[in-house]
Amino acid sequence: MAALRSVVVGCGSSLPARAVSNRELAERVDTSDEWIVQRTGIRSRHLAASDETTSVLGTRAAQAALADAGLSAADIDLVICATSTPDHTFPSTATQIQAALGVERGCAFDVQAVCAGFVFAVSTADRFLRTGGATRALVVGAETFSRIVDWEDRTTCVLFGDGAGAIVLEAREGRGTNADRGVLSASLRSDGRHRDKLYVDGGPGSTGTTGHLRMQGKEVFRFAVGSVLDVIEDAFAQAGFTPKDLDWFVPHQANRRIIEASADKLGIPREKVVLTVDRHGNTSAASIPLALDAARRDGRIREGDLVMIEAIGGGFSWGAALIRW
Ligand code: UT7
Repeated sequence: MAALRSVVVGCGSSLPARAVSNRELAERVDTSDEWIVQRTGIRSRHLAASDETTSVLGTRAAQAALADAGLSAADIDLVICATSTPDHTFPSTATQIQAALGVERGCAFDVQAVCAGFVFAVSTADRFLRTGGATRALVVGAETFSRIVDWEDRTTCVLFGDGAGAIVLEAREGRGTNADRGVLSASLRSDGRHRDKLYVDGGPGSTGTTGHLRMQGKEVFRFAVGSVLDVIEDAFAQAGFTPKDLDWFVPHQANRRIIEASADKLGIPREKVVLTVDRHGNTSAASIPLALDAARRDGRIREGDLVMIEAIGGGFSWGAALIRW
């Protein structure tokens, strides 16, 4: 039976010009290139200049995605931005991106699910598009985590970076089978009991300050490689696929060890895993669209490929979505 599908028609990304290597970081923090590479796989991250806010990075990524799709701002009627580092408490960063692009139709809002934000945003946009609530959506993941890390805390500050990525989703008529292009399934979860393992110790409604990121790294690591398989397996099952059918596994880029352990548990061979954490560190909600854009531009992800995106972040919140590109 015919059904509307949310098809990826464009992809783009943006990293701040300033790249900071592990060695450069070791000049200001008590760490080493060897420790960071061995524990995380990160070699470099990009840090935003003072005038590069989250919406600036998000707008650049969105412009690249629109150009890639051959579309203009007038074609878009939904903008969703996944971010935990908005320019301001309000209005939403999505509205700032909307205005900068010149989008005048439809609505724009932020989704806040920390590192899982892009998966939540894709699933949200998909529901709008499949129910006729919008026709073309810009889904952006944009972050400036360098502004909320505690630069005195070597256990966290070496892990994060700034950046943005975006995709354009277009509602298209499909046949309603899993051979269709588009978002085929999504599975989202949250469990707020894990708050203290990964949080920011400030906020407008509590301290009145922005606060800094705090993380119990080992606890997050354990959860990330263990409990998140439920959403991945659910997304596969919903669409009638197994990991063997997958062309590309594009996980949240937090830590190479977490990514490889998850892929191993699912039986996904390493050559199908897209890994970009080495070049930009953990960019939270931006990491998946940055990885998608890299793999599409270097020719790995092609039209018709089956792609799994998955992430876990503060809350905890976690999710997975299966997309036929
Ligand atoms: O986006 C989702 C959220 N984040 C994540 O997915 C991160 C999840 N967690 C992790 O990736 C890992 O737990 C980390 C990379 C954060 C840490 O790796 P670990 O293997 O769990 O290290 P650890 O915390 O057990 O620390 C081992 C040692 C400690 O020294 P002692 O106590 O053994 O003497 C730390 O003090 O490494 C030390 N250490 C460092 N040394 C050099 C911690 N940070 C650093 C550092 N440089 N930056």
